Amino acid sequence: MEGNEELHIKRSDFPDGFLFGAATSSYQVEGAYLEDAKSLSNWDAFCHSVGCGENGDVADDHYHLFLEDIDMMHSLGIKAYRFSISWARILPRGRSGEVNPAGITFYNKIIDNLILKGIEPFVTMHHFDFPQELEVKYGSWLNPEMQEEFVLLAETCYKYFGDRVKYWITINEPNLFTNAAYESGDFPPARCSEPFGNCLAGNSDVEPLIVMHNMLLANGKATKLYHDSYRAIIIICAATHGGSIGIVVSCLMYEPLTNTDLDREAAERAFAFNIGWVLDHLIYGDYPEEMHKYLGSRLPSFSLEEKNLLKNSIDFIGINHYSTMYTKDCINSSCSSTGAHAIQGFVDIMGERDGVLIGERKNYSLFLEAWRKLLTISRLGYSSPDVCKERVDEILNDVKRIEFHSKYLAFLAKSLRNGADVRGYFVWSLMDSYEWLQGYDVRFGLYYVDRKTLTRRSKLSAKWYKDFLMNNIDLIDMKALGGRRSFQNNVMMLRNG
Ligand code: NOJ
Repeated sequence: MEGNEELHIKRSDFPDGFLFGAATSSYQVEGAYLEDAKSLSNWDAFCHSVGCGENGDVADDHYHLFLEDIDMMHSLGIKAYRFSISWARILPRGRSGEVNPAGITFYNKIIDNLILKGIEPFVTMHHFDFPQELEVKYGSWLNPEMQEEFVLLAETCYKYFGDRVKYWITINEPNLFTNAAYESGDFPPARCSEPFGNCLAGNSDVEPLIVMHNMLLANGKATKLYHDSYRAIIIICAATHGGSIGIVVSCLMYEPLTNTDLDREAAERAFAFNIGWVLDHLIYGDYPEEMHKYLGSRLPSFSLEEKNLLKNSIDFIGINHYSTMYTKDCINSSCSSTGAHAIQGFVDIMGERDGVLIGERKNYSLFLEAWRKLLTISRLGYSSPDVCKERVDEILNDVKRIEFHSKYLAFLAKSLRNGADVRGYFVWSLMDSYEWLQGYDVRFGLYYVDRKTLTRRSKLSAKWYKDFLMNNIDLIDMKALGGRRSFQNNVMMLRNG
């Protein structure tokens, strides 16, 4: 991977139908937070009450600027756009109310205009946001009622958009969401207990397990509904496509802190407690053995009927890979107060060894090694710190993002040649947007968004991506660039095709 010859990769080295795209999510880009009968979402309510610093009230104003954004995507040369549906925009009151026609119209316009420009819509139905009413009424994902709420959301999407949308993602990163909202309590509804965080209410040792259980069952039910009642109809009506549905998991990779069996086992447990937690049931119909062993009866169980529903249910797995972390065993050695908890798999997870950040080791080779493991076992991402205080010219000259994507793409091409079944690559993100609690200073976009005028400007990485996609430029031509930025890769891994 370190050799330059390996970077001699062009668009034409990937299969014709390989989907190169970019991604966003509703709360992060749309704005228009109470327009056209949209209700308050959990994030609107949270940011307006406790104060998130900045918020998504306006975001990138994609709600009004989407046509311009689709033109921008077209000129970039991407063939797929992954975006999410704001649940509060199309079903403002969930099952207690009606479908909001204005919300449907908005997404119909996005879908139609994408298709007009030859861009495949990739729709995520849940990306961290939902109507606040569902939180107030019964505690949202802590309550099994939320499964049925989600099925209604999914059915509404299939019904109104399913004639044109071929790719569905049920839930984005249920593991990241669950931990942020119910373990550390950073995301709404900000529930946690010590030592994980200092929240007004919650139980970090138990609630994440309940929330995940409800999300996985919701995913299973919505997927079955699609396969049984919507995909079939679409095949009959539009001979051209059958549609695929999957789930996206947040995938850190884990590297033992020391070269000992204990830390190696800790790495395996970290994998099971974070990634296996979301994916195992899709293959085995149950949670990973390690979770059963260390959590006992605290781990919710699936009935036989549910196991059958979940096993082999999805068509693809989406992998969001950010980084690799070190793992330290906490069963036999003393650890931080959180690492010593069963919910963490008795593992301490850290980004540094002997004061050296993991990302600085061997010039990212560890990340690329993680990529290899994720692709061959199943999963991958990366983002760098220090992105807050850059000047605009520095932001636009984002050579570090280019370097990183080049390496990952080169590695991906090699993995495809070796037989990995990967069907697409989505850059997070199309444009700078609301980065949750970190506001607008953390930028992932290929396009810079001026916060005062909301004008979009191409960064160097957008020009590079365009050259790669439209002009079949060799990745190595970009290698001479130098600098430093932040980025993340989103990779779609298709399983059953
Ligand atoms: C993936 C999350 O899904 C997205 O919402 C977030 O902005 C990026 N990671 C970067 O943190």
